This record gives sequence, structure tokens and C-alpha cells, in this order.
Amino acid sequence: MSEQNLADLQRQIEHERAARKQAERSLEEKISELTFANQLLQRYLDSVPCIMVALDTRGCISMINRAGCMLLDQPESALLGQAWFERFLPQPDGGSRLLPAFLQLVGGDVHPREELSEYPVVDGSGQPHLMAWHTAMLTDQAGRIVGTLSSGEDITERKQAETAIAESRKLLLKIIDTVPARVFWKDPDLRFLGCNTAFARDAGMQSSADMIGKDDYQMAWAAQADFYRADDRAVMSSGTPRLNFEEQQTTASGETVWLRTSKVPLVNDDHETFGVLGIYEDITEYRRIEADNRVHVAELTALNTMLIEAQNQMLRSVKMASVGQLAAGVLQEINNPFAFINSHLAALKGHVADLLGVLDAYRQAEPALAVHADLMAAIERAKSAANLDFVRQDILNLITESLDGVHRVKTIVENLRDFSRVDSAEWHQANLEKGLESTLNIVWNEIKYKATIKREYAGLPEIECLSGQLNQVFLNLLANAVQAIDERGVITLRTGFDDDTVWVEVVDTGRGIDPEQLDRVFEPFFTTKPAGKGTGLGLSLAYSIVHRHRGQLEVRSKVGKGSAFRVTLPRKRATDGSGS
Ligand SMILES: Nc1ncnc2c1ncn2[C@@H]1O[C@H](COP(=O)(O)OP(=O)(O)O)[C@@H](O)[C@H]1O
Ligand SMILES: [Mg+2]
Repeated sequence: MSEQNLADLQRQIEHERAARKQAERSLEEKISELTFANQLLQRYLDSVPCIMVALDTRGCISMINRAGCMLLDQPESALLGQAWFERFLPQPDGGSRLLPAFLQLVGGDVHPREELSEYPVVDGSGQPHLMAWHTAMLTDQAGRIVGTLSSGEDITERKQAETAIAESRKLLLKIIDTVPARVFWKDPDLRFLGCNTAFARDAGMQSSADMIGKDDYQMAWAAQADFYRADDRAVMSSGTPRLNFEEQQTTASGETVWLRTSKVPLVNDDHETFGVLGIYEDITEYRRIEADNRVHVAELTALNTMLIEAQNQMLRSVKMASVGQLAAGVLQEINNPFAFINSHLAALKGHVADLLGVLDAYRQAEPALAVHADLMAAIERAKSAANLDFVRQDILNLITESLDGVHRVKTIVENLRDFSRVDSAEWHQANLEKGLESTLNIVWNEIKYKATIKREYAGLPEIECLSGQLNQVFLNLLANAVQAIDERGVITLRTGFDDDTVWVEVVDTGRGIDPEQLDRVFEPFFTTKPAGKGTGLGLSLAYSIVHRHRGQLEVRSKVGKGSAFRVTLPRKRATDGSGS
């Protein structure tokens, strides 16, 4: 080996040594870089809050981060190489079901790039944790699968919360399906967000799911959609609930029903309106019952009025009957005294006339007594003491007036008896003009200062009637006529008849009746008179008595001119037996 060669070799060795040194240095740098990267990665893996675990193709742990170690409560060194599915998943599920699936995943031909799944792992204390897994395939440079890298997030609490939410939602839906009302809620565009089943049925849908996203134009009540939507909008924009109002709706079956509705704006925590909630119930049936009840109440009221009327009439009849009885008794008692007072007065009148004749004869003889001055003076004294001239004039008048008085007392008692006939409950033949007269006599005292009576009698035939009750009718009509006259007026009593009917009219020149009140005067308790003066029962009582006779009671009136009440009655009693 030449010197030259040796030097070359040496230089070459030097060079190679330097090169190796250089290579070693750069390898060391690489290693330290890698170590640094590895540490960085490790630190990164340890810092993530979820579990990171790498498995080899047999399903054994090849890497696990700190969160994993903490959950499983073992150091990394103890965990590396352990069979994941058999050791850390709840058994038997983990080993028997998930391991074959894993092996298929890593050994199969089709390799998904990543895989999402949920399965539980058991922590160090034996407690299962549900994890959401995100798994990626690990491959070598040739692209062969060498294992998996999974990150797992503990979703136990989220799942529990989700389950609780789902359950309370289910409960809520159950509640709104159970309440006996229709419930719906809509978004701000008034599309349905949800509703209960009853509401969906009303809308013509199978279930509440069918409603979601639809609006009122697609419902059975499309014709009323504009109306409802305007209402919804008003509630949303006002921001205040609208409660318990009544409205109508046409249902899927074409029926029109009544609803009692409440609407409430849906507002979130930031005070933003995100929709409207409505709730209503079908109150058609309530309304019907209410209407029925109203009819019943009206019927009961009418019945009650009839009872009051009947009672009133009974009281009057009883009163009249007793007055009549009294009058009849009195008449009986005073009949004899009347008879002899009457005849004695008549006789007395004759005797007095005779005596006066004798007295006249004596008077003519007076001049002949002039010679007996004493006697004459005594006679003159006696004459002036007795006030003979006046007595002479007055005595016959007194007797005539007394006879007249006796006569009038008799008439009054007879009128009383006639007016209130004790047998008035019995149907009998009677003359209404006579009844009118006796009634007039009863109220004559009240009439005489206010009204002149005009009679236009047609000479009525007798009719079959309850004359005592008809007299009460005349009494009420006469009383009203007098009360309608302010200063002085005329009451005309007019009668007439044809083959089938008779009629009696009481016409006054009083105030008249307002046309608006004309329909109401026969109503029980209708009165325009001050309390204590009018009961409002006179005409209703008259009406029912006339009705009992199958007759008619009619009124004509002109304000400021007067009124006429006409009673028309059949001449023969109706034969159907009613009206007694
Ligand atoms: N002849 C009449 N003229 C004017 N108004 C009358 C007459 N008769 C009845 N009325 C009206 O009809 C109402 C009812 O009459 P009525 O039933 O007899 O009750 P009352 O006389 O107790 O008020 C009276 O209050 C009055 O307003
Ligand atoms: Mg009256």
C-alpha cells in the first residue's frame, strides 16, 4: 500500500467517520424531535376530556390516555395489552357481541374510514358508563389495518337527561291528550307546531303528527282560517292572553259547534314571542242545556204566575163569597124591619097628609076665634114655638126622603148580593147588563166625582156564565177606566150581541196606552201605577176569567184620547168540560 493510498484511505475513513457522526447527530436530533412530538401527543391525548384508546387487531389495548386510566382506575402500564372487550365492557355483552363485530371490522375487506357507536364501559368501581365512541382505523404504510383509535365521551348524564326530557314530554303529551279540551300551538307564521289528538280529529286529521307544519287553510275550518289567524296574530302582538271567549267553528263533519276559547302568546326567557297557544272546549251541549233550562225557567215562571193568579182569584172569590153571604144574611135580617118601616112610612105619609088637612081646616077657623084673645095668643105662641110653617113644609119631604133612603139601602144590599153571588162558582144563566149595573153601584162612590156614565145597552140576552167572576172583570175594567181619567171624563158602557156571542165594552176618555205597552197590559204584574196603587194583576186576572169562558178580551187605545176594553163571550158554555 503506497503512502498515497494510505493517506487516501485514511482521508476516506475520516470522511466516513465524520459522515457517520453527522448521521448519528441527525438521528439523535430526529429521535429527540420524535420524542418531543410523542410527548406533545401524549400531553395532548392526556389533556382531552374524553377517553382515547387504541386497540390492536386482536382487540387489546395498545395505547390509552390519562382520562382512560382514570376511568378504569389502573395505570397505563397495567392496561397496555389487556383485552378491551372482555375486561372493560359489561359482560356478557362486551365479549360476546361487540368483539366479533370489532374483529369483523378490522379483518374485513370493506374498511369504513370511521365508525360511530355507543356502548358502555365499566369503571374501576364496577359502574357502567355509557360512552359515545368515535373510531378511526389505524393502518401501516402498506395500508393494512393494524388497529383502531377510538375516542369515547361519557354520555351517561346526557342520556339520563335526554331520557328524563323524553319522559316528561311524553307525560305532557299524555296530559294534553287527556284534558277534555282541544289544545294547539303554532309558530309565528301560524303553522302548527303541535296539538292534542282531539284537536287533530276536529281538524279532520288522524293524529297530531299530521298537523305539524300545516296551517288553518288546510283544515276543516279553512273558510274561517282568516278569522282565526287574525285572532292569533292579535294575541301574539298584544303579548297578553285572551281568555274564555265564545266563538263558532265548523268541524270536519260539517257541524257548527260553539267553543269557549283561550289564547296565550308563547314567550321565551328573552321575552321574544315564538308562537301562540290555544285551548278550547266544545260548549255546544252546555249551551243547549242552558237554553233548555231557560225554557224550563220560563215555563216554571209562567206556571208560578198562573198559581199566583189562581190563588189571587181564589182569595177574591172567597172574599166576595163572604161579602155576598154577609149581604144575604143582612138582607134577610133587615127584610122585615125594612118592610114595616117602608109600609109604616107610607102609612105615616098618608096620616100626616090627613093631619095637615085637619090643621088647614083649623087655620081657616082662626078668624072666628079673634074674640077669645087669650085663646088666640096661646095658639100663636104654640105655633111659633113649634115653627109650624116650617114643619108644615118640611114634614112630608122628610117622610119622602126617608122612604127614598130606605129604598136605597135595600138596593145597595141587593147589589152587594148580586155582585158577589154566593153561587158564583156555579155556571148559570145571567144577564151581563145587570151584572154591569150592580158592579157600577159597588164602585159608584169612586166614579161619581170623576166620570159621567153613558150607557149604550143593546138589551143582551142571558148567557151561561160564572157571573160573579165576570163581575170581577167589569170591576177591574171600571177601576182602570176611572184611574185613567185625570180630571173628569166619560165612561161609556156599551153592549152588543149576535147569534153566537155577546160583548161588553168599557170605554173611557182617559190617558190612553202607549202603543209599546199595549201588548203588555195583560201580563201579570205589569203596571204603570205607583207602588201601592197598582198590582198589575187586574187585567191578567180579567184575561184568565174571560179565557175560562172561552171568550176574548181585547183592547184599543189612543194616547191622549182614551181606551176601550171589549169582553166577547160565547152565548153557550163550551162543552169540552174545561173552563170551570
Ligand atoms: N183604561 C186604561 N187606560 C189606560 N191604561 C190602562 C187602562 N187599563 C189598563 N191600563 C194599563 O195597564 C196596566 C195594567 O193594568 P192592571 O192589570 O189592571 O194593573 P194595575 O191597574 O194594578 O196597574 C195599568 O198599570 C195601566 O198602565
Ligand atoms: Mg187595574
